[in-house]
Amino acid sequence: MTGFAGQAKAHTNIALAKYWGKSDLLLNLPAVPSISLTLDSLFTETRVQFVQGLRSDVVRLDGKAARGKERDRMVRVLNRVRKDHRLELFAVVESTNHVPTAAGLASSASGFAALAAASVCAAGGTIRPRQISRLARWSSASAARSVYGGFVQLNAGQPGDDALCAKPLHGPGFWDVCLVVAKTTQARKKVGSTEGMERSRKTSPYYAPWVNSAGRWTRAIRSGIRNRDLAVVGEAMEQSTMAFHACTLTSEPWFSYWNGTTLDVLSKIRDLRDVRGVGVYATMDAGPHVKALCLRRDAKTIQRVLARVPGVESTLVAGPGPDMAVQRIAPFHD
Ligand code: DP6
Repeated sequence: MTGFAGQAKAHTNIALAKYWGKSDLLLNLPAVPSISLTLDSLFTETRVQFVQGLRSDVVRLDGKAARGKERDRMVRVLNRVRKDHRLELFAVVESTNHVPTAAGLASSASGFAALAAASVCAAGGTIRPRQISRLARWSSASAARSVYGGFVQLNAGQPGDDALCAKPLHGPGFWDVCLVVAKTTQARKKVGSTEGMERSRKTSPYYAPWVNSAGRWTRAIRSGIRNRDLAVVGEAMEQSTMAFHACTLTSEPWFSYWNGTTLDVLSKIRDLRDVRGVGVYATMDAGPHVKALCLRRDAKTIQRVLARVPGVESTLVAGPGPDMAVQRIAPFHD
């Protein structure tokens, strides 16, 4: 083995103001602004080392060789780092997700953020969070937000503007909110988020109104966070969520990420709020699981209630998480 290894740890995030749709497919620029919360207990650790004598990249994900599209997306990041640092060596990549499959949460945001940081570090580059965010965005726009802890914003991109990166709004200690995740039964997702966004953009009559309204919800969420006002954040988050899912339902052909249990959990959350006066608001991403935003003091009660909804397989509570961490490791010798 030669050269230093780069090791990075990045936490996953959940959007409060949703990203759905691209303004530039090639540069992977979002058509709308988004705001997310980085989560504490869910993260990816990735180690990259550029090595002499390899004939292709060796990419291992959770101990298994990565294949197909998954591998191609990771190799694209390595290619970009090789080009930027004029490196010709192939790499060994080991990536481990500490996002329990039981959580039903995607690990691509934390995965691409950790891969981007570890690759730049292994190539001998200086770690500049803005540049790591930009590199991560190129693979998966939600990954751009996982570079920072706490509350993070990614603006909409203007076509051709490859400089776009996320910016931190408030650190993890700013506001002690939680997300209670209710995992509902799931068959493998039929429509990936990139494909779903493109189908929405091309065919849904609701797509243009969604893009026009997204800024308003993002601004409300940003000011709600600044004032630590759960109702303002929660109401705008639900509107943003429902409007993006409305695009999927009105696409041609239509599709939906929800199942029956998603709707049952949603109505339980409304009951908790409207009947029992608990401050709790729902959001869903490109999958059937429901994430409930609340203050930490209410999280245990909400978790208990959601765990009892028939069809909920498991639940977990996550709070605000930290910035990514990167480390350069001395080479190990054969
Ligand atoms: C619904 O970041 O996975 O979770 O940029 O095409 O990789 P690509 O999409 P991705 O989309 C995430 C969509 C979402 C909302 C969000 O996280 O903002």
